[in-house]
Amino acid sequence: MNIQENISLQAFNTFGINKNARFFTVCKSIDDLKDSLSFAAKKNLPVLILGGGSNILLTKDLEALVMKNELKGIHKIKEDKEYVWVEVGAGEIWHDWVMTAIENNWAGIENLSLIPGTVGASPMQNIGAYGVEIKEVFEELKALNRKTLEIEKFDAEACQFGYRESVFKNELKDQYIICSVTFRLRKNPIFKTEYGAIQEILEKNKSQKISIKSISDAVIAIRKSKLPNPKEIGNAGSFFKNPTISNKQYERIRSEYPQIPGYPTEEGIKIPAAWLIEQAGWKGKRFGEIGVHEKQPLVLVNYGKGEGKEVKSLSEKIQKSVLEKFGIQLTPEVNFL
Ligand code: FAD
Ligand code: EPU
Repeated sequence: MNIQENISLQAFNTFGINKNARFFTVCKSIDDLKDSLSFAAKKNLPVLILGGGSNILLTKDLEALVMKNELKGIHKIKEDKEYVWVEVGAGEIWHDWVMTAIENNWAGIENLSLIPGTVGASPMQNIGAYGVEIKEVFEELKALNRKTLEIEKFDAEACQFGYRESVFKNELKDQYIICSVTFRLRKNPIFKTEYGAIQEILEKNKSQKISIKSISDAVIAIRKSKLPNPKEIGNAGSFFKNPTISNKQYERIRSEYPQIPGYPTEEGIKIPAAWLIEQAGWKGKRFGEIGVHEKQPLVLVNYGKGEGKEVKSLSEKIQKSVLEKFGIQLTPEVNFL
């Protein structure tokens, strides 16, 4: 185990915020995780488990041990006529795993192509895009209990998945390190192409037979056209979650803003936060080194030398103005540190 001191985390978070970790280590095995936890316990330091750093906002230097998860491995565990079960190490890069699944003709995660980050973080907020969430293909995960140092298994029910939520962000926050995730993928695909933009692209390429590869290609093209590439402009994807409001509140707002988009769900009407933020006048606004993205106002950006504190303060101003204008409270999706 190699523990480094006073390491800049700039290259380890997609916002590109330049803050330091007091201690930093890369964990490639469960033993590395245990040794690192014991080092932190001896020094009485908090720990941060880091994947690809694509859903965090660093607002300060971390007086902590940062443990970068690089537990690798992709293993087919079993299969039957319909499904294949594959256990994937938490430190595998999510998009690389999606590409491996597609190469093997394993279906179910093609709509989740090009989401940044690691496999281990994917259950944390039940990642989702273009009509699919990982809970639909999730079998179980193995996680190290940070207190007992035992490996425990969690099935989908135990994970309490919701929209960008799981038990690991709530009751069990900071108590487990996810070591591997087992997915149940289909041998015969069921294509999910309801999302308008996917349909448009597939329609354009009508001569091509629809496949999990063609859906993945369509998703990649849409994402590249809408979302800033963190290698060029720092960001963490959607900064806020899309809020759900009651039918009554929706009708009240619609009487004043007839164009308000809304999607019925079991809990009410889901409103695109991007629309609320654009209506509140923030789209494309730049404030020195940080700002609101010009194509996707749900994405806050760092143009280079921005500070996490500034991004946080901008996010609070956006929340306040959306609350004042529409009476809707936006909740951050990004984890503040
Ligand atoms: P990190 O940012 O490193 O960590 C996130 C949180 O999980 C932290 O609290 C961390 O401590 C914890 N954590 C990480 N790994 C572990 C582990 N092994 N065990 C325990 N805790 C852990 N998300 C979506 O859902 N859908 C999208 O379409 C989407 N698009 C995005 C587009 C862009 C351009 C960007 C930058 C982000 C996007 N995201 C999206 C958000 C992000 O990619 C996901 O949340 C991703 O799963 C984060 O993975 P990570 O490894 O980078 O996590
Ligand atoms: N919109 C505007 N103005 C804009 C852009 C969008 O008003 O400039 C409105 C439009 O009504 C549009 C709607 O927002 O139809 C939805 O926009 P988009 O399809 O870009 O998706 P989103 O709701 O902003 C969500 C997820 C993304 C995910 C996409 C695709 C959340 C918080 N975000 O974004 O996830 O990739 O759908 O499924 O649920 C992430 O979580 O980091 C993330 C990027």
